[in-house]
Order: sequence, then C-alpha cells, then structure tokens
Amino acid sequence: MLVTNDETAFEQFHLYPTNGLLNDPNGLVFFKGQYHVFYQWNPYACDHKYKEWGHFVSDDLKTWQRVASALKPSLENLDSDGIYSGAAFIHEDRLYLFYTGNVRDEAGHSVKSSQMWAVSDDGIHFEKLGELFPHPEGFTKDVRDPMVWQGKNGHYFLILGAQHDNKIGDIIIYESTDFKTWQYRGSLIEDQLLDVRGYMLECPGFVDVDGRQVLMFSPQGLTPDLENHRFENIHNTGYVIGHFDEKTARFHVETEFKEVDQGFEFYAPQTMSLLNGRRIMWGWAGMMTPERESAVPTIKSNSWVHVLTVPRELHVNDHNQLTQQPISEILDPEEVDNVKNISVGQYRLNITDDWQLQLGQNVTITRQSDTLKLKRRQWEADVVESRQFTGNLDNLLLIVDVDIIEIYTSDGLNVLTSRWF
Ligand code: FRU
Repeated sequence: MLVTNDETAFEQFHLYPTNGLLNDPNGLVFFKGQYHVFYQWNPYACDHKYKEWGHFVSDDLKTWQRVASALKPSLENLDSDGIYSGAAFIHEDRLYLFYTGNVRDEAGHSVKSSQMWAVSDDGIHFEKLGELFPHPEGFTKDVRDPMVWQGKNGHYFLILGAQHDNKIGDIIIYESTDFKTWQYRGSLIEDQLLDVRGYMLECPGFVDVDGRQVLMFSPQGLTPDLENHRFENIHNTGYVIGHFDEKTARFHVETEFKEVDQGFEFYAPQTMSLLNGRRIMWGWAGMMTPERESAVPTIKSNSWVHVLTVPRELHVNDHNQLTQQPISEILDPEEVDNVKNISVGQYRLNITDDWQLQLGQNVTITRQSDTLKLKRRQWEADVVESRQFTGNLDNLLLIVDVDIIEIYTSDGLNVLTSRWF
C-alpha cells in the first residue's frame, strides 16, 4: 500500500502526513465507489494547536491518493480554531460530515466546542451547514466527536464524547426523525461503566459487527492496572458489546470493557462499513505524552509526526469477543519460521516457546510460554518500558513498517501496535 501521489513513499503500509501532525482517523466512508479516509491534520506544525480534516481517497483500499483538505476552520466563534474529530453519514445520496468546531481564547486555550455539519455531492468539495444544536447543559466545554447512525426504526441517532461538570466522562445521545432537528436524550450508558470513563471520554463509536452491537470509546485518565497490564498508556481505547434500545436511547452493556490494542500508541479508532457487510477499522498510532511526542524522530528528519494503523477487519467470535486482522486487500505475508531479524515487510511466523526478536536497536519482542512481551527503550528518555498480552501465540502475523510494528495473533484476539525508532 503506497500513497500514490507522494514522490517517494516513506511508510510502506501506513498512512502518514506529508508534513505536520496527523491524529485521529475521521469520517471513514465508502461513497459513490470510493473509499474516503479523512484525518485530523495540523499541516503547519507538529503540534495540536490547529486542526483541519486532511483527506485520502482510494479505489481499492490499497493505494491512496492525497486530495485537498475537506474542511478547514472558517466560522467565527464556531470552528475558527479547529475542525475536530467526527464521522460521515450518507443520506439521500449525499455525503454528510459531522464534526466538532473548536474555538480558542487569546492565550490559546480551547474555550468552546460546537457540533457542526457539512455536506457534499462528490465526496471532495464540502459546504458547511453550521451548528447542529446548542451546547448541552451540565457539561464542560469538552463535548466532541459526533458519530451518527440510523436506527431500525428509521430515526437518526448522534452520540458524543462528553465531560460532566463534575469531571466524569460520558457518552451523550441525540435523536432526530427528520435528519435536521435533534432532541437531547441524555446519557447513552447512564450509570454503567463508571470505572472506565475517566475524566473525559473521547471518540465514541457505535458499530454493528457481525450483527452484534459494539461500543468503542477512548477514555482519558484511567488509572493504570499494572498487575493485569491494562490501561498502561496515557490514554486508552476499549470496547464493550451490548444492546441498544432505540425506544429509550440507552445502551445495555453485556461484556467487560476490553482494550482494543495491547501496544503503546493505539487510540481514537473509527470504522468504515463496506457494502458486503464487512466492517473495517483504522486507529491512530500516536497517543503518547507531550514529551515523547515532541521527540518523535520523524519531526526532525521529515517534518511530520504520527501514522494511522493499517485497516483491520473486525469480527465478533462465538464468545462475544472482538477479533481483528489486517484487511485481505493489503495482506501479502511471507511464511517464515523462527526468524530472529526482520526488516520492513509482512511475516507470518510459527514461534517456539523461547522465541525472541530484535527490532532495530531499541525493541525486543519475546515469548515466554503464552505471554508475548514487547520491550522498548523510549526515544525521549533512556528508560525501557514494556507492553504484553497473554493468548494463543503459535502463529503470529507481523506487519513491520519503517517505524511501526503491528503484531496479530492468528485468532485475532490480541493485537499489539508499537512505534519503533
Ligand atoms: C482524540 C481527540 C478528539 C478531538 C481530536 C482533536 O485524539 O482529542 O477528541 O476531536 O483529537 O484533534
């Protein structure tokens, strides 16, 4: 997978910006025969002070073309300092983008967020339609990342990540019958999942996978559970499976909150639904502390920072667990046995109990019985940290790119993503 209109490709399998900072995938959609991946982009600097929606288009999910940004700040006091994350929805043959407008004060602090929308006939040029509804009461200015779907009853539902005035994260839901006027319906999850909401909850996604209803979100500020190797990143992403009741607009959680990826940087994923019922997901491989972020080596070498993960096909297995594998369109792995040294490529390997792999100078991956551990000497400080998971390790799929590795177990139950330099 190479980005076609770059003069030279840097990453081989991953989408990256030409310059500046990339974060969340946005508005993932198949529209009028083309796949669209929008993304949070600051083209001016490798920081988060400004965001617009960068845009990739593909005919085959393999090669991508960079096209002009779809949405840029323009509306005074609504989206003048940032077009924050959001989602796409096709309605009556037109492509609608829902996003959060960000406004900052003179000191540069975010002071206001507004839920906004825009429309397009060709998927390339968008007309802004303004603000959807007023800011909900009882919440701080941290309300963002709209996602929209149509229920079986024909009504439209819109969810948002939100922070209550008492600094607890939540997902709030709105409902519309005409796709224009939205009614506030309160919390999607009410008093469930209180231990994993953090002080703010970002990028909620409600998705149908194999007929099961999956709710994904990215809470901020969870306490790391070091004993069980959960929530060890600065912010984390997880999912639950359950049932959405369209009448009450409530989601009833049926499973434990489980992290989507066991590695270092995975965050803020979104999914795209394909015509044949497949559901594919991209994540941002860039969630890290500000100190680590500003020291990412590509800033100096290439004037850009962060990448998206490869697209992953999602399924739910018989035990109500989410599974992930890279989509078949981009897969072309070499079958190898017990390799000790690898470079950029895709590998399917059978590994033995005492397996160890060195990746560059700073990363070591080892198997100890059913546990896979990735140790990384961090690039901004001379410390070694590790991430690990326990699962079926007999056969692993490795997607190794210039500075990111994704490791998949063959049952798709565990994925570990890590940048490496
Ligand atoms: C998640 C996030 C979103 C926000 C966007 C801003 O990484 O913080 O909540 O909309 O990034 O770039």
